Amino acid sequence: MRVAVFGTKSYDRQSFEAANARFGHALTFLEPRLDADTAPLAHGFPAVCVFVNDLLDAAVLEALRAGGTRVVALRCAGFNNVDLAAADRLGIAVVRVPAYSPHAVAEFAIGLMLALDRRIHRAWARTRENNFALDGLVGRNLHGRTVGVVGTGRIGAIVARALRLGFGCEVLAFDPFPDEALAADGIRYVDRAALLDAVEIVTLHCPLTPQTRRFIDAEAIARARPGLMLVNTSRGALIDTAAVIEGLKSRKLGGVALDVYEQEESLFFEDLSNEIVQDDVLQRLLTFPNVLVTGHQAFLTSEALAAIAETTLASLADAEAGRPLAHRLAPPRAG
Ligand code: NAI
Repeated sequence: MRVAVFGTKSYDRQSFEAANARFGHALTFLEPRLDADTAPLAHGFPAVCVFVNDLLDAAVLEALRAGGTRVVALRCAGFNNVDLAAADRLGIAVVRVPAYSPHAVAEFAIGLMLALDRRIHRAWARTRENNFALDGLVGRNLHGRTVGVVGTGRIGAIVARALRLGFGCEVLAFDPFPDEALAADGIRYVDRAALLDAVEIVTLHCPLTPQTRRFIDAEAIARARPGLMLVNTSRGALIDTAAVIEGLKSRKLGGVALDVYEQEESLFFEDLSNEIVQDDVLQRLLTFPNVLVTGHQAFLTSEALAAIAETTLASLADAEAGRPLAHRLAPPRAG
């Protein structure tokens, strides 16, 4: 199948070319992100492959359809950037990679937690300058701490178990669909308010939906324990960034580690080190010593990239052959 691969980075090209030896698709690698301006690049391609920050609103999907596109393959799990109702109306099938390596994200989230809590990011910067002083680097043991896991699906379950069974944390969880096996491992399900009241660290692993948007807002921060540490590897809009900045300034929040950011589309995945970044909110976040930001990197392991490429190319082969699409996203239910 002829596939236009948008937003290609060197690591995408490598993993897709390696996996494609088995499938033989005609892949055209494009650097630009998909949006209304770049949609014409897909003209004549029956399939496009996109990532988390490509924009697939109704206008873009209409442009794709007009150009002959019938399948959109998301090389990621999240799909909040796609208007599924519009895709359905236009007869465009949307497939995704529901699970490629939940371990990659779970391990990264715990890595952020440890780095932030033990000031590893600051120690690294210091020792590069031959500054071996330890002042300001006092951390806390993870063992025995109370950690909240929001969303206990594929990723959250791994995080919860590692924290409970590996580190010996007290783990509270919030999820509308509790997992009994996790409860049997000593993870305690509570409601949102009880979780926010009790935890010292909260890590977000739920999808971005109308219900979870701004899960951490000014009210959540106000009711939290002083010094709450926040880790977000899911989606930027799960937190109200302005409220988080206020929480850091008032010291109510003890630390924040973010792999995702609400306005990341125009920033992440690019080298902007020679630019004047115009986003004052992100720039303010980066000034805090107790904030650690990474650029949507949690998924980035060679195992995950190989699995993403394999699943995506297999879905496209199924689409080409007219076989059922196992990873097709259903349109949202009306009402
Ligand atoms: P999953 O679908 O297996 O689990 C999501 C869980 O969240 C489910 O158990 C669901 O019941 C729960 N949930 C739904 N609504 C909720 C609510 N209102 N409150 C609390 N929990 C709720 O998804 P998975 O694979 O664990 O991924 C989680 C999220 O991680 C994805 O939606 C995506 O946004 C993010 N992600 C980030 C990556 C990165 O590189 N930073 C890479 C992959 C995923």
